[in-house]
Amino acid sequence: MQRSLILLLCLGLVRAATLQNYTVDDTSPDILYGGDIFQCNADACPAEVTEGAFNNSATLQPFAELRARTFLAVTTGSIMFSFNGTAIYASLDLVGTCAIILDGYEIQSLNITAAQAVAGERGDIAQSGLANGLHTLVIDPRTNPTLIGFDHLVYTVPGKKSHVAAIVGGVVGAVVLTIAALFLALFARRRKLIIRRNQRKSAVLRAINSARHDRKGGEEDATQLPT
Ligand SMILES: *[C@@H]1O[C@H](CO)[C@@H](O)[C@H](O)[C@H]1NC(C)=O
Ligand SMILES: *[C@@H]1O[C@H](CO)[C@@H](O)[C@H](O)[C@H]1NC(C)=O
Ligand SMILES: *[C@@H]1O[C@H](CO)[C@@H](O)[C@H](O)[C@H]1NC(C)=O
Ligand SMILES: *[C@@H]1O[C@H](CO)[C@@H](O)[C@H](O)[C@H]1NC(C)=O
Repeated sequence: MQRSLILLLCLGLVRAATLQNYTVDDTSPDILYGGDIFQCNADACPAEVTEGAFNNSATLQPFAELRARTFLAVTTGSIMFSFNGTAIYASLDLVGTCAIILDGYEIQSLNITAAQAVAGERGDIAQSGLANGLHTLVIDPRTNPTLIGFDHLVYTVPGKKSHVAAIVGGVVGAVVLTIAALFLALFARRRKLIIRRNQRKSAVLRAINSARHDRKGGEEDATQLPT
């Protein structure tokens, strides 16, 4: 029983060590722009440009208030972002050619013509399976002009629990441990009680047996006497 409890606790720990995605908006101060940017929103840009741009949904989104005002950064310069994690994802509106550079190495080349862009083609960046640590992504325009419409990116951090999850996990863990300890104590007590009762029972039985034996012996003696 103790073994299955330990197994349960281990399962709980494994469940807690899940991956967490973080979304970073184009308006985040962590995004470094190497050239001029033009912030596109519903007022400044035609609907076709901002249509489908990221809007805060159920996921973690630290810049929700800014997001409400700005949909998209349009630039012809480079875009740089550093993060601690294991994966990075982005989807760009792009006309032109970009090199995608991660930690100094070109991992991808994106090339989208104006006709392709109008047809709805986007430049998708996806790199997972990185060593957990500090990484730097650079989106680097390689032809002039290259127009980048940057909305947001997503990076993945392993083993990050929210405070609420940690507290809930801690409370649930404590309750489980307390119940387990009570259960074990009860189990041990019951076993001890049963052993003690059995001992007492056998002692009583022994006493009865020996008493019966003595009486039998006496009767036998009595019957034996007259002969
Ligand atoms: C994180 O986001 C990427 C891209 O949207 C997705 O492929 C991945 O499954 C997500 N991971 C988690 C843990 O949500
Ligand atoms: C973002 O989405 C929420 C609901 O999901 C909506 O109420 C809000 O108007 C949207 N914001 C913008 C700027 O589209
Ligand atoms: C990455 O983690 C290191 C060590 O914890 C920290 O010093 C650094 O500021 C972090 N960088 C970013 C971009 O989060
Ligand atoms: C991009 O693709 C177009 C055709 O789709 C091609 O003509 C052009 O040379 C490419 N540019 C680069 C830099 O690869």
